[in-house]
Amino acid sequence: AIENGGSIDALINTPTMALISLSTMNLFIAILVLSLSCRHPFAESLAAGAGLASTTFTPLSSKIQKVTTTPSARVFVAGISHTCTEEMIKSTFSEFGAVQNILIVGQDEATKKRKRLPYCFVTFHDVSSAQRAIEAPKPCTNDDDASISSVYKEIQYAMPKEVRHRSNAGRAKEMERKTRIEEFSSETNLIVQVQSTHLDRMVEYLHRWNNNSQNNHQNTKGDNTVSDNSCRVLGSTNANSRNVSMLFLSCGNPQLVSRMLNTDPLLARAINKSYIVQTGLIEGNLATEQGCHTIANTLFDMTTQNKDVSSLRIQVFPPKHQSRLLQSFDGIINEDDSQQFTISPKGFSHMISVVEVYQYKGRGWEERQLQEDNRLYMVGISTASLELDVVDTNNRIADDSSGDDVSRAYYKLKEATETYEASRGILDQDLYKSIALDCGSAPGGWTKYLIERFHCPNVYSIDPGSLAPSVSTLKETRHLQMKIQDALPILLEDEGATGQVKIWVSDMCLHDMGEQVDHLLLAKKKGLLAPNAFFVLTLKCVVGHSKSAFDSQVEKIVDKLHITLSANVVGVETFHLFSNRSGERTVIGYIN
Ligand SMILES: C[S@@+](CC[C@H](N)C(=O)[O-])C[C@H]1O[C@@H](n2cnc3c(N)ncnc32)[C@H](O)[C@@H]1O
Repeated sequence: AIENGGSIDALINTPTMALISLSTMNLFIAILVLSLSCRHPFAESLAAGAGLASTTFTPLSSKIQKVTTTPSARVFVAGISHTCTEEMIKSTFSEFGAVQNILIVGQDEATKKRKRLPYCFVTFHDVSSAQRAIEAPKPCTNDDDASISSVYKEIQYAMPKEVRHRSNAGRAKEMERKTRIEEFSSETNLIVQVQSTHLDRMVEYLHRWNNNSQNNHQNTKGDNTVSDNSCRVLGSTNANSRNVSMLFLSCGNPQLVSRMLNTDPLLARAINKSYIVQTGLIEGNLATEQGCHTIANTLFDMTTQNKDVSSLRIQVFPPKHQSRLLQSFDGIINEDDSQQFTISPKGFSHMISVVEVYQYKGRGWEERQLQEDNRLYMVGISTASLELDVVDTNNRIADDSSGDDVSRAYYKLKEATETYEASRGILDQDLYKSIALDCGSAPGGWTKYLIERFHCPNVYSIDPGSLAPSVSTLKETRHLQMKIQDALPILLEDEGATGQVKIWVSDMCLHDMGEQVDHLLLAKKKGLLAPNAFFVLTLKCVVGHSKSAFDSQVEKIVDKLHITLSANVVGVETFHLFSNRSGERTVIGYIN
Protein backbone atom coordinates (compact mmCIF):
# COMPACT_ATOMS: atom_id res chain seq x y z
CA ALA A 1 0.00 0.00 0.00
CA ILE A 2 2.81 2.38 0.85
CA GLU A 3 4.63 1.68 -2.41
CA ASN A 4 1.46 2.53 -4.25
CA GLY A 5 1.23 5.88 -2.58
CA GLY A 6 -1.07 4.87 0.25
CA SER A 7 -0.51 5.82 3.85
CA ILE A 8 0.14 3.68 6.91
CA ASP A 9 -3.32 4.73 8.16
CA ALA A 10 -4.90 3.26 5.09
CA LEU A 11 -3.01 0.05 5.60
CA ILE A 12 -4.21 -0.35 9.19
CA ASN A 13 -7.79 0.72 8.57
CA THR A 14 -8.41 -1.52 5.58
CA PRO A 15 -12.19 -1.84 5.45
CA THR A 16 -14.32 -4.81 4.69
CA MET A 17 -15.31 -4.51 1.10
CA ALA A 18 -17.40 -6.29 -1.42
CA LEU A 19 -17.45 -5.46 -5.07
CA ILE A 20 -20.37 -6.26 -7.27
CA SER A 21 -20.34 -5.23 -10.87
CA LEU A 22 -23.35 -5.07 -13.16
CA SER A 23 -23.51 -4.28 -16.82
CA THR A 24 -26.54 -2.36 -17.97
CA MET A 25 -26.85 -0.21 -21.12
CA ASN A 26 -23.11 -0.41 -21.76
CA LEU A 27 -22.39 1.04 -18.35
CA PHE A 28 -20.19 -0.76 -15.95
CA ILE A 29 -21.22 0.02 -12.43
CA ALA A 30 -19.13 -1.03 -9.54
CA ILE A 31 -20.69 -0.84 -6.12
CA LEU A 32 -18.54 -0.54 -3.11
CA VAL A 33 -19.95 -1.59 0.15
CA LEU A 34 -17.83 0.00 2.80
CA SER A 35 -17.87 -0.93 6.41
CA LEU A 36 -19.93 1.40 8.58
CA SER A 37 -17.02 2.12 10.82
CA CYS A 38 -15.36 4.35 8.26
CA ARG A 39 -18.11 5.56 5.97
CA HIS A 40 -17.24 8.70 4.01
CA PRO A 41 -19.58 10.51 1.64
CA PHE A 42 -16.92 10.88 -1.05
CA ALA A 43 -16.47 7.12 -0.90
CA GLU A 44 -20.10 6.57 -1.80
CA SER A 45 -20.16 9.02 -4.63
CA LEU A 46 -16.99 7.63 -6.10
CA ALA A 47 -18.19 4.10 -5.64
CA ALA A 48 -21.06 4.79 -8.01
CA GLY A 49 -18.69 5.94 -10.72
CA ALA A 50 -15.77 3.60 -10.28
CA GLY A 51 -15.37 1.28 -13.20
CA LEU A 52 -11.73 0.47 -13.70
CA ALA A 53 -10.13 -2.87 -14.27
CA SER A 54 -8.74 -4.43 -11.15
CA THR A 55 -5.16 -3.38 -11.64
CA THR A 56 -3.11 -1.55 -9.06
CA PHE A 57 -2.96 2.16 -9.81
CA THR A 58 -0.67 4.73 -8.29
CA PRO A 59 -1.36 8.46 -7.89
CA LEU A 60 -0.58 10.37 -11.06
CA SER A 61 1.70 13.03 -9.90
CA SER A 62 4.30 13.71 -7.30
CA LYS A 63 2.63 16.35 -5.21
CA ILE A 64 5.88 17.95 -4.11
CA GLN A 65 5.24 21.19 -5.98
CA LYS A 66 1.51 21.17 -5.41
CA VAL A 67 1.17 21.11 -1.65
CA THR A 68 2.07 23.30 1.25
CA THR A 69 1.62 23.16 5.00
CA THR A 70 0.37 26.76 4.92
CA PRO A 71 -3.43 26.73 5.21
CA SER A 72 -5.10 27.85 2.00
CA ALA A 73 -8.58 27.68 0.50
CA ARG A 74 -7.36 25.28 -2.17
CA VAL A 75 -6.83 21.58 -1.42
CA PHE A 76 -4.93 19.01 -3.40
CA VAL A 77 -6.69 15.63 -3.50
CA ALA A 78 -4.44 12.83 -4.72
CA GLY A 79 -5.39 9.43 -6.07
CA ILE A 80 -9.05 9.77 -7.10
CA SER A 81 -10.90 7.39 -9.38
CA HIS A 82 -10.77 7.60 -13.17
CA THR A 83 -14.53 7.86 -13.38
CA CYS A 84 -15.62 10.24 -10.66
CA THR A 85 -17.15 13.45 -11.91
CA GLU A 86 -16.93 17.08 -10.88
CA GLU A 87 -20.44 16.84 -9.44
CA MET A 88 -19.46 13.91 -7.25
CA ILE A 89 -16.45 15.74 -5.92
CA LYS A 90 -18.49 18.87 -5.37
CA SER A 91 -21.22 17.08 -3.44
CA THR A 92 -18.62 15.38 -1.28
CA PHE A 93 -16.65 18.45 -0.41
CA SER A 94 -19.63 20.84 -0.08
CA GLU A 95 -20.15 19.22 3.30
CA PHE A 96 -17.18 21.22 4.55
CA GLY A 97 -18.10 24.56 2.98
CA ALA A 98 -18.96 26.26 -0.30
CA VAL A 99 -16.89 24.92 -3.18
CA GLN A 100 -15.80 27.55 -5.68
CA ASN A 101 -13.91 25.55 -8.24
CA ILE A 102 -12.79 22.01 -9.08
CA LEU A 103 -10.03 20.96 -11.43
CA ILE A 104 -9.57 17.27 -12.24
CA VAL A 105 -6.26 16.20 -13.76
CA GLY A 106 -5.33 12.91 -15.34
CA GLN A 107 -8.62 11.26 -16.32
CA ASP A 108 -7.24 10.21 -19.68
CA GLU A 109 -6.22 7.05 -21.45
CA ALA A 110 -2.50 7.77 -21.18
CA THR A 111 -2.71 8.07 -17.40
CA LYS A 112 -4.80 4.92 -17.22
CA LYS A 113 -2.26 3.05 -19.34
CA ARG A 114 0.51 4.20 -17.03
CA LYS A 115 -1.56 2.77 -14.18
CA ARG A 116 -1.71 6.13 -12.47
CA LEU A 117 -4.64 7.61 -10.60
CA PRO A 118 -5.91 11.11 -11.38
CA TYR A 119 -5.95 13.92 -8.84
CA CYS A 120 -7.93 17.10 -8.36
CA PHE A 121 -7.78 20.56 -6.87
CA VAL A 122 -10.78 21.77 -4.89
CA THR A 123 -11.00 25.48 -4.16
CA PHE A 124 -13.27 26.51 -1.26
CA HIS A 125 -14.59 29.99 -0.58
CA ASP A 126 -12.56 30.19 2.57
CA VAL A 127 -9.63 28.61 4.33
CA SER A 128 -11.71 27.29 7.22
CA SER A 129 -13.71 25.04 4.84
CA ALA A 130 -10.47 23.66 3.46
CA GLN A 131 -9.25 23.10 6.99
CA ARG A 132 -12.42 21.14 7.83
CA ALA A 133 -11.94 18.95 4.74
CA ILE A 134 -8.36 18.24 5.71
CA GLU A 135 -9.18 17.50 9.32
CA ALA A 136 -12.20 15.30 8.55
CA PRO A 137 -11.68 11.56 9.15
CA LYS A 138 -9.85 10.03 6.29
CA PRO A 139 -11.98 8.12 3.81
CA CYS A 140 -11.64 4.38 3.73
CA THR A 141 -9.50 2.58 1.26
CA ASN A 142 -8.94 -0.98 0.34
CA ASP A 143 -5.41 -1.19 -0.83
CA ASP A 144 -5.78 -4.63 -2.34
CA ASP A 145 -7.54 -2.93 -5.18
CA ALA A 146 -6.65 0.71 -5.05
CA SER A 147 -8.14 1.60 -8.43
CA ILE A 148 -11.67 0.92 -7.33
CA SER A 149 -11.88 1.33 -3.66
CA SER A 150 -9.43 4.09 -2.84
CA VAL A 151 -11.58 7.10 -2.24
CA TYR A 152 -8.52 9.20 -2.45
CA LYS A 153 -5.02 8.66 -1.29
CA GLU A 154 -4.21 11.99 0.26
CA ILE A 155 -5.64 15.42 0.90
CA GLN A 156 -3.48 18.43 1.71
CA TYR A 157 -3.43 22.18 1.28
CA ALA A 158 -2.57 23.13 -2.27
CA MET A 159 -0.22 25.92 -3.10
CA PRO A 160 -2.62 28.88 -3.45
CA LYS A 161 -2.72 30.33 -6.95
CA GLU A 162 -1.46 33.72 -5.86
CA VAL A 163 1.62 32.12 -4.28
CA ARG A 164 2.22 29.99 -7.31
CA HIS A 165 1.96 32.97 -9.58
CA ARG A 166 4.44 34.92 -7.56
CA SER A 167 7.07 33.02 -9.42
CA ASN A 168 7.09 35.48 -12.28
CA ALA A 169 10.59 34.57 -13.36
CA GLY A 170 9.35 31.18 -14.50
CA ARG A 171 6.47 32.74 -16.39
CA ALA A 172 8.70 35.30 -18.04
CA LYS A 173 11.01 32.53 -19.16
CA GLU A 174 8.10 30.62 -20.63
CA MET A 175 6.87 33.72 -22.47
CA GLU A 176 10.35 34.32 -23.82
CA ARG A 177 10.52 30.75 -25.10
CA LYS A 178 7.20 31.16 -26.89
CA THR A 179 8.17 34.53 -28.35
CA ARG A 180 11.41 33.07 -29.64
CA ILE A 181 9.52 30.29 -31.43
CA GLU A 182 7.13 32.87 -32.91
CA GLU A 183 10.10 34.83 -34.23
CA PHE A 184 11.82 31.76 -35.72
CA SER A 185 8.64 30.58 -37.35
CA SER A 186 8.16 33.78 -39.30
CA GLU A 187 11.20 32.90 -41.45
CA THR A 188 11.63 29.14 -41.05
CA ASN A 189 11.05 26.93 -44.06
CA LEU A 190 13.10 23.92 -42.95
CA ILE A 191 13.29 22.30 -39.51
CA VAL A 192 16.07 19.82 -38.89
CA GLN A 193 15.96 17.36 -36.01
CA VAL A 194 19.50 17.03 -34.67
CA GLN A 195 21.12 14.89 -31.98
CA SER A 196 21.64 17.36 -29.14
CA THR A 197 25.26 16.29 -28.60
CA HIS A 198 26.02 17.49 -32.12
CA LEU A 199 24.00 20.71 -32.01
CA ASP A 200 26.90 23.16 -31.60
CA ARG A 201 28.98 21.47 -34.28
CA MET A 202 25.97 21.38 -36.57
CA VAL A 203 25.34 25.10 -36.15
CA GLU A 204 29.01 25.88 -36.91
CA TYR A 205 28.92 23.55 -39.89
CA LEU A 206 25.80 25.24 -41.28
CA HIS A 207 27.30 28.70 -40.79
CA ARG A 208 30.30 27.61 -42.84
CA TRP A 209 28.02 25.99 -45.40
CA ASN A 210 25.91 29.12 -45.70
CA ASN A 211 28.92 31.41 -46.10
CA ASN A 212 30.46 29.15 -48.74
CA SER A 213 27.27 28.84 -50.75
CA GLN A 214 26.63 32.58 -50.62
CA ASN A 215 30.24 33.35 -51.64
CA ASN A 216 30.16 30.87 -54.51
CA HIS A 217 26.82 32.23 -55.62
CA GLN A 218 28.02 35.82 -55.61
CA ASN A 219 31.18 34.89 -57.48
CA THR A 220 29.22 33.20 -60.25
CA LYS A 221 26.17 35.49 -60.40
CA GLY A 222 27.81 38.72 -59.36
CA ASP A 223 24.67 39.90 -57.51
CA ASN A 224 23.22 39.81 -54.03
CA THR A 225 20.42 37.31 -54.63
CA VAL A 226 20.10 34.37 -52.26
CA SER A 227 21.60 31.11 -53.47
CA ASP A 228 19.35 28.04 -53.66
CA ASN A 229 21.51 26.13 -51.22
CA SER A 230 21.89 28.94 -48.73
CA CYS A 231 20.76 27.96 -45.28
CA ARG A 232 20.62 30.45 -42.42
CA VAL A 233 20.33 29.16 -38.85
CA LEU A 234 17.61 31.11 -37.03
CA GLY A 235 17.77 29.25 -33.73
CA SER A 236 17.15 25.99 -31.96
CA THR A 237 14.99 24.43 -29.28
CA ASN A 238 15.07 21.30 -27.22
CA ALA A 239 12.38 19.05 -28.59
CA ASN A 240 10.67 17.56 -25.53
CA SER A 241 13.51 15.18 -25.08
CA ARG A 242 17.00 15.98 -23.94
CA ASN A 243 18.59 13.99 -26.75
CA VAL A 244 16.98 15.75 -29.66
CA SER A 245 17.05 19.40 -30.70
CA MET A 246 15.22 21.22 -33.46
CA LEU A 247 17.13 23.61 -35.70
CA PHE A 248 15.09 26.30 -37.43
CA LEU A 249 16.51 27.19 -40.84
CA SER A 250 15.72 29.69 -43.52
CA CYS A 251 16.84 28.21 -46.84
CA GLY A 252 16.99 29.47 -50.44
CA ASN A 253 15.41 26.21 -51.58
CA PRO A 254 14.39 24.13 -48.53
CA GLN A 255 13.80 21.03 -50.60
CA LEU A 256 17.27 21.13 -52.09
CA VAL A 257 18.96 21.89 -48.77
CA SER A 258 16.99 19.16 -47.00
CA ARG A 259 18.18 16.59 -49.53
CA MET A 260 21.76 17.83 -49.42
CA LEU A 261 21.88 17.66 -45.62
CA ASN A 262 20.27 14.25 -45.50
CA THR A 263 22.60 12.77 -48.06
CA ASP A 264 25.79 14.23 -46.61
CA PRO A 265 27.53 11.17 -45.12
CA LEU A 266 29.34 13.34 -42.57
CA LEU A 267 26.04 14.39 -41.07
CA ALA A 268 24.50 10.92 -40.94
CA ARG A 269 25.07 10.60 -37.19
CA ALA A 270 23.94 14.11 -36.40
CA ILE A 271 20.70 14.53 -38.35
CA ASN A 272 17.66 12.43 -37.56
CA LYS A 273 15.09 13.99 -39.85
CA SER A 274 14.15 17.16 -41.64
CA TYR A 275 10.77 18.78 -42.19
CA ILE A 276 9.90 21.23 -44.94
CA VAL A 277 7.40 23.70 -43.52
CA GLN A 278 5.58 26.91 -44.39
CA THR A 279 6.38 30.00 -42.39
CA GLY A 280 3.97 30.72 -39.54
CA LEU A 281 2.44 28.77 -36.69
CA ILE A 282 -0.83 26.97 -36.14
CA GLU A 283 -2.41 26.45 -32.76
CA GLY A 284 -3.74 23.03 -31.85
CA ASN A 285 -3.19 19.91 -29.83
CA LEU A 286 -2.45 16.53 -31.38
CA ALA A 287 -2.78 14.92 -27.97
CA THR A 288 -6.58 15.19 -28.13
CA GLU A 289 -9.09 13.81 -30.64
CA GLN A 290 -10.60 17.21 -31.26
CA GLY A 291 -7.25 18.94 -31.59
CA CYS A 292 -6.13 16.27 -34.04
CA HIS A 293 -9.25 16.77 -36.10
CA THR A 294 -8.68 20.52 -36.27
CA ILE A 295 -5.11 20.07 -37.52
CA ALA A 296 -6.16 17.33 -39.95
CA ASN A 297 -8.70 19.80 -41.42
CA THR A 298 -5.98 22.43 -41.89
CA LEU A 299 -3.80 19.84 -43.64
CA PHE A 300 -6.70 18.78 -45.82
CA ASP A 301 -7.32 22.38 -46.93
CA MET A 302 -3.62 22.80 -47.62
CA THR A 303 -3.59 19.62 -49.72
CA THR A 304 -6.68 20.43 -51.77
CA GLN A 305 -5.09 23.72 -52.82
CA ASN A 306 -2.35 21.74 -54.54
CA LYS A 307 -3.82 20.06 -57.61
CA ASP A 308 -0.73 17.93 -58.27
CA VAL A 309 -1.09 15.82 -55.14
CA SER A 310 -1.87 12.18 -55.95
CA SER A 311 -0.52 10.36 -52.91
CA LEU A 312 0.70 11.64 -49.61
CA ARG A 313 3.01 10.68 -46.85
CA ILE A 314 2.58 12.36 -43.49
CA GLN A 315 5.45 12.71 -41.03
CA VAL A 316 4.68 13.98 -37.57
CA PHE A 317 6.81 15.12 -34.69
CA PRO A 318 6.49 13.84 -32.02
CA PRO A 319 5.84 10.55 -33.82
CA LYS A 320 3.57 9.24 -31.06
CA HIS A 321 0.79 11.42 -32.50
CA GLN A 322 1.28 10.16 -36.04
CA SER A 323 -1.31 7.38 -36.10
CA ARG A 324 -4.04 9.50 -34.49
CA LEU A 325 -3.48 12.26 -37.02
CA LEU A 326 -3.41 9.78 -39.90
CA GLN A 327 -6.73 8.31 -38.82
CA SER A 328 -8.29 11.71 -38.52
CA PHE A 329 -6.94 12.82 -41.90
CA ASP A 330 -8.05 9.59 -43.55
CA GLY A 331 -11.55 10.09 -42.17
CA ILE A 332 -11.73 13.55 -43.73
CA ILE A 333 -10.50 12.27 -47.13
CA ASN A 334 -13.10 9.50 -47.08
CA GLU A 335 -15.92 11.96 -46.37
CA ASP A 336 -15.04 14.01 -49.44
CA ASP A 337 -15.73 12.04 -52.64
CA SER A 338 -14.32 14.76 -54.86
CA GLN A 339 -10.78 14.12 -53.62
CA GLN A 340 -8.65 11.63 -55.53
CA PHE A 341 -5.52 11.52 -53.42
CA THR A 342 -4.57 8.74 -51.03
CA ILE A 343 -2.24 8.33 -48.10
CA SER A 344 0.69 6.08 -48.86
CA PRO A 345 3.97 5.68 -46.96
CA LYS A 346 5.78 4.56 -50.16
CA GLY A 347 5.78 5.91 -53.68
CA PHE A 348 4.12 9.14 -52.58
CA SER A 349 4.01 12.28 -54.68
CA HIS A 350 3.97 14.71 -51.76
CA MET A 351 5.11 14.82 -48.18
CA ILE A 352 3.25 16.60 -45.40
CA SER A 353 5.24 17.58 -42.32
CA VAL A 354 3.69 18.45 -38.99
CA VAL A 355 6.07 19.52 -36.23
CA GLU A 356 5.16 20.43 -32.70
CA VAL A 357 7.48 23.35 -32.02
CA TYR A 358 6.06 24.55 -28.72
CA GLN A 359 4.23 23.10 -25.80
CA TYR A 360 3.45 25.12 -22.68
CA LYS A 361 5.87 23.96 -19.99
CA GLY A 362 5.32 26.61 -17.37
CA ARG A 363 3.71 26.18 -13.97
CA GLY A 364 0.67 23.95 -14.05
CA TRP A 365 1.62 22.48 -17.44
CA GLU A 366 0.19 19.09 -16.52
CA GLU A 367 -3.24 20.61 -16.00
CA ARG A 368 -3.03 22.40 -19.33
CA GLN A 369 -1.68 19.50 -21.35
CA LEU A 370 -4.98 18.70 -22.98
CA GLN A 371 -6.13 22.25 -23.59
CA GLU A 372 -6.79 23.00 -27.23
CA ASP A 373 -4.41 25.90 -27.50
CA ASN A 374 -1.36 25.00 -25.45
CA ARG A 375 0.77 23.72 -28.34
CA LEU A 376 2.04 25.29 -31.54
CA TYR A 377 2.84 23.55 -34.81
CA MET A 378 4.57 24.28 -38.06
CA VAL A 379 3.27 22.40 -41.08
CA GLY A 380 4.19 22.12 -44.74
CA ILE A 381 3.66 20.18 -47.94
CA SER A 382 6.45 19.44 -50.40
CA THR A 383 6.96 17.32 -53.47
CA ALA A 384 8.94 14.10 -53.18
CA SER A 385 12.12 14.45 -55.24
CA LEU A 386 13.41 11.11 -56.35
CA GLU A 387 16.34 12.31 -58.48
CA LEU A 388 18.20 13.38 -55.37
CA ASP A 389 17.71 10.00 -53.71
CA VAL A 390 19.38 8.43 -56.73
CA VAL A 391 22.35 10.80 -56.42
CA ASP A 392 22.56 9.76 -52.79
CA THR A 393 22.90 6.04 -53.48
CA ASN A 394 25.38 6.66 -56.29
CA ASN A 395 27.58 8.71 -54.02
CA ARG A 396 27.76 6.11 -51.33
CA ILE A 397 30.34 3.39 -51.48
CA ALA A 398 28.86 0.25 -52.91
CA ASP A 399 30.28 -2.73 -51.09
CA ASP A 400 29.64 -6.25 -49.88
CA SER A 401 27.61 -7.12 -46.80
CA SER A 402 29.92 -5.11 -44.53
CA GLY A 403 29.54 -2.17 -46.90
CA ASP A 404 27.71 0.00 -44.42
CA ASP A 405 30.45 -0.35 -41.82
CA VAL A 406 33.18 0.29 -44.37
CA SER A 407 31.31 3.31 -45.62
CA ARG A 408 30.68 4.74 -42.14
CA ALA A 409 34.33 4.29 -41.13
CA TYR A 410 35.56 5.75 -44.43
CA TYR A 411 33.63 8.97 -43.83
CA LYS A 412 34.83 9.17 -40.26
CA LEU A 413 38.48 9.40 -41.33
CA LYS A 414 37.47 11.75 -44.13
CA GLU A 415 35.70 14.01 -41.64
CA ALA A 416 38.68 13.81 -39.26
CA THR A 417 41.26 14.90 -41.84
CA GLU A 418 39.01 17.56 -43.37
CA THR A 419 38.13 19.02 -39.97
CA TYR A 420 41.82 19.14 -39.09
CA GLU A 421 42.54 20.92 -42.38
CA ALA A 422 39.70 23.39 -41.76
CA SER A 423 41.41 24.26 -38.50
CA ARG A 424 45.12 24.04 -39.43
CA GLY A 425 45.31 24.47 -43.19
CA ILE A 426 46.17 21.81 -45.73
CA LEU A 427 48.08 18.69 -44.72
CA ASP A 428 51.80 18.22 -45.44
CA GLN A 429 52.23 17.40 -49.09
CA ASP A 430 54.76 14.64 -48.36
CA LEU A 431 51.96 12.55 -46.83
CA TYR A 432 50.84 11.81 -50.36
CA LYS A 433 52.21 8.58 -51.84
CA SER A 434 53.72 7.69 -48.44
CA ILE A 435 53.51 4.45 -46.43
CA ALA A 436 50.62 4.30 -43.96
CA LEU A 437 49.66 2.06 -41.05
CA ASP A 438 46.05 1.49 -40.03
CA CYS A 439 45.84 0.03 -36.53
CA GLY A 440 42.61 -1.85 -35.78
CA SER A 441 41.60 -1.67 -39.42
CA ALA A 442 38.75 -4.16 -39.92
CA PRO A 443 36.47 -4.04 -41.86
CA GLY A 444 38.60 -1.53 -43.74
CA GLY A 445 37.04 1.91 -44.31
CA TRP A 446 40.11 3.78 -43.04
CA THR A 447 42.50 1.68 -45.14
CA LYS A 448 40.36 2.39 -48.17
CA TYR A 449 40.34 6.12 -47.44
CA LEU A 450 44.15 6.21 -47.02
CA ILE A 451 44.60 4.51 -50.37
CA GLU A 452 42.15 6.79 -52.17
CA ARG A 453 43.00 10.11 -50.55
CA PHE A 454 46.78 9.84 -50.15
CA HIS A 455 47.47 7.35 -52.95
CA CYS A 456 49.51 5.32 -50.49
CA PRO A 457 51.39 2.58 -52.35
CA ASN A 458 51.28 0.45 -49.22
CA VAL A 459 48.94 0.48 -46.22
CA TYR A 460 49.77 -1.88 -43.37
CA SER A 461 46.33 -2.85 -42.25
CA ILE A 462 46.60 -4.41 -38.78
CA ASP A 463 43.68 -6.25 -37.26
CA PRO A 464 43.07 -9.79 -35.97
CA GLY A 465 39.69 -9.54 -37.66
CA SER A 466 38.87 -9.88 -41.37
CA LEU A 467 38.76 -7.08 -43.89
CA ALA A 468 35.85 -6.61 -46.29
CA PRO A 469 36.74 -8.16 -49.67
CA SER A 470 36.48 -4.77 -51.34
CA VAL A 471 39.40 -3.61 -49.16
CA SER A 472 41.47 -6.79 -48.77
CA THR A 473 41.64 -7.24 -52.56
CA LEU A 474 43.13 -3.79 -53.18
CA LYS A 475 46.76 -4.17 -54.23
CA GLU A 476 47.89 -1.47 -51.76
CA THR A 477 46.40 -3.31 -48.75
CA ARG A 478 48.87 -5.34 -46.69
CA HIS A 479 46.71 -7.06 -44.09
CA LEU A 480 48.60 -8.38 -41.05
CA GLN A 481 45.88 -10.37 -39.34
CA MET A 482 47.09 -9.99 -35.76
CA LYS A 483 47.24 -7.55 -32.88
CA ILE A 484 49.43 -4.46 -33.17
CA GLN A 485 51.61 -5.78 -30.31
CA ASP A 486 52.49 -8.81 -32.45
CA ALA A 487 52.70 -6.89 -35.71
CA LEU A 488 55.29 -4.36 -34.48
CA PRO A 489 58.31 -6.74 -34.43
CA ILE A 490 57.26 -8.25 -37.76
CA LEU A 491 57.05 -4.81 -39.36
CA LEU A 492 60.48 -3.89 -38.05
CA GLU A 493 62.25 -7.16 -38.70
CA ASP A 494 60.52 -8.90 -41.62
CA GLU A 495 58.74 -6.16 -43.51
CA GLY A 496 61.62 -3.69 -43.56
CA ALA A 497 59.27 -0.90 -42.52
CA THR A 498 61.70 0.81 -40.15
CA GLY A 499 61.49 4.60 -40.49
CA GLN A 500 58.92 4.26 -43.28
CA VAL A 501 55.50 4.84 -41.75
CA LYS A 502 54.50 8.43 -42.49
CA ILE A 503 50.80 8.11 -41.55
CA TRP A 504 49.64 6.31 -38.40
CA VAL A 505 45.88 6.01 -37.89
CA SER A 506 44.21 4.03 -35.16
CA ASP A 507 40.52 3.47 -34.49
CA MET A 508 41.02 0.65 -31.99
CA CYS A 509 38.47 0.18 -29.29
CA LEU A 510 40.59 -0.44 -26.19
CA HIS A 511 39.62 -0.93 -22.59
CA ASP A 512 42.19 1.67 -21.55
CA MET A 513 42.03 4.44 -24.11
CA GLY A 514 45.45 5.69 -23.02
CA GLU A 515 46.90 2.67 -24.79
CA GLN A 516 46.22 4.38 -28.13
CA VAL A 517 48.94 6.86 -27.25
CA ASP A 518 51.21 4.14 -25.79
CA HIS A 519 51.15 2.20 -29.08
CA LEU A 520 51.98 5.33 -31.08
CA LEU A 521 54.85 6.29 -28.75
CA LEU A 522 56.22 2.75 -28.80
CA ALA A 523 56.18 2.72 -32.61
CA LYS A 524 58.07 6.02 -32.52
CA LYS A 525 60.55 4.73 -29.95
CA LYS A 526 61.18 1.54 -31.91
CA GLY A 527 61.92 3.61 -35.01
CA LEU A 528 58.96 2.53 -37.15
CA LEU A 529 57.75 6.06 -37.88
CA ALA A 530 59.18 8.38 -40.53
CA PRO A 531 60.10 11.95 -39.46
CA ASN A 532 57.15 14.25 -38.90
CA ALA A 533 54.60 11.46 -39.16
CA PHE A 534 50.91 12.38 -39.20
CA PHE A 535 48.64 10.58 -36.75
CA VAL A 536 44.88 10.22 -36.17
CA LEU A 537 43.72 8.43 -32.99
CA THR A 538 40.20 7.73 -31.80
CA LEU A 539 39.88 7.83 -28.02
CA LYS A 540 36.85 5.80 -27.01
CA CYS A 541 35.46 5.53 -23.58
CA VAL A 542 34.22 1.99 -23.02
CA VAL A 543 33.31 2.35 -19.35
CA GLY A 544 30.58 4.68 -18.11
CA HIS A 545 31.90 8.16 -17.33
CA SER A 546 30.22 11.50 -16.96
CA LYS A 547 30.93 13.89 -19.82
CA SER A 548 33.24 16.04 -17.72
CA ALA A 549 35.15 13.02 -16.36
CA PHE A 550 35.57 11.75 -19.89
CA ASP A 551 36.80 15.11 -21.20
CA SER A 552 39.36 15.47 -18.44
CA GLN A 553 40.57 11.91 -19.09
CA VAL A 554 41.04 12.74 -22.77
CA GLU A 555 42.93 15.88 -21.78
CA LYS A 556 45.29 13.84 -19.58
CA ILE A 557 45.99 11.42 -22.41
CA VAL A 558 46.74 14.27 -24.80
CA ASP A 559 49.03 15.81 -22.17
CA LYS A 560 50.90 12.53 -22.04
CA LEU A 561 51.67 13.02 -25.74
CA HIS A 562 52.96 16.52 -25.11
CA ILE A 563 55.20 15.76 -22.17
CA THR A 564 56.80 12.62 -23.50
CA LEU A 565 60.56 12.96 -23.78
CA SER A 566 60.92 10.36 -26.50
CA ALA A 567 59.04 12.39 -29.11
CA ASN A 568 58.16 15.90 -30.13
CA VAL A 569 54.47 16.16 -30.83
CA VAL A 570 53.13 19.22 -32.67
CA GLY A 571 49.86 20.61 -34.01
CA VAL A 572 47.74 18.40 -31.79
CA GLU A 573 43.99 18.99 -31.84
CA THR A 574 41.14 17.10 -30.19
CA PHE A 575 37.78 17.01 -31.99
CA HIS A 576 34.32 15.77 -31.24
CA LEU A 577 33.34 14.90 -34.80
CA PHE A 578 29.86 14.21 -36.09
CA SER A 579 31.11 10.66 -36.58
CA ASN A 580 32.16 10.35 -32.93
CA ARG A 581 29.72 8.97 -30.42
CA SER A 582 29.29 11.07 -27.32
CA GLY A 583 32.02 9.15 -25.41
CA GLU A 584 34.50 9.38 -28.25
CA ARG A 585 37.01 12.00 -29.42
CA THR A 586 39.50 12.15 -32.27
CA VAL A 587 43.04 13.37 -31.64
CA ILE A 588 45.14 14.48 -34.61
CA GLY A 589 48.67 15.86 -34.96
CA TYR A 590 52.25 15.28 -36.10
CA ILE A 591 54.96 13.35 -34.23
CA ASN A 592 58.70 13.79 -34.58
C1 LIG B 1 36.00 0.20 -34.73
S1 LIG B 1 36.89 -1.07 -35.42
C2 LIG B 1 37.83 -0.23 -36.60
C3 LIG B 1 37.11 0.15 -37.84
C4 LIG B 1 38.07 0.59 -38.90
N1 LIG B 1 38.66 1.87 -38.58
C5 LIG B 1 37.49 0.67 -40.29
O1 LIG B 1 37.84 1.57 -41.00
O2 LIG B 1 36.70 -0.19 -40.68
C6 LIG B 1 38.09 -1.44 -34.20
C7 LIG B 1 38.97 -2.59 -34.56
O3 LIG B 1 40.06 -2.61 -33.67
C8 LIG B 1 40.53 -3.94 -33.62
N2 LIG B 1 41.46 -4.10 -32.49
C9 LIG B 1 41.20 -4.08 -31.16
N3 LIG B 1 42.33 -4.28 -30.45
C10 LIG B 1 43.34 -4.41 -31.36
C11 LIG B 1 44.74 -4.61 -31.23
N4 LIG B 1 45.33 -4.71 -30.05
N5 LIG B 1 45.45 -4.68 -32.37
C12 LIG B 1 44.86 -4.57 -33.58
N6 LIG B 1 43.54 -4.37 -33.74
C13 LIG B 1 42.79 -4.30 -32.65
C14 LIG B 1 39.27 -4.73 -33.52
O4 LIG B 1 39.48 -6.07 -33.99
C15 LIG B 1 38.33 -3.95 -34.45
O5 LIG B 1 38.24 -4.56 -35.71
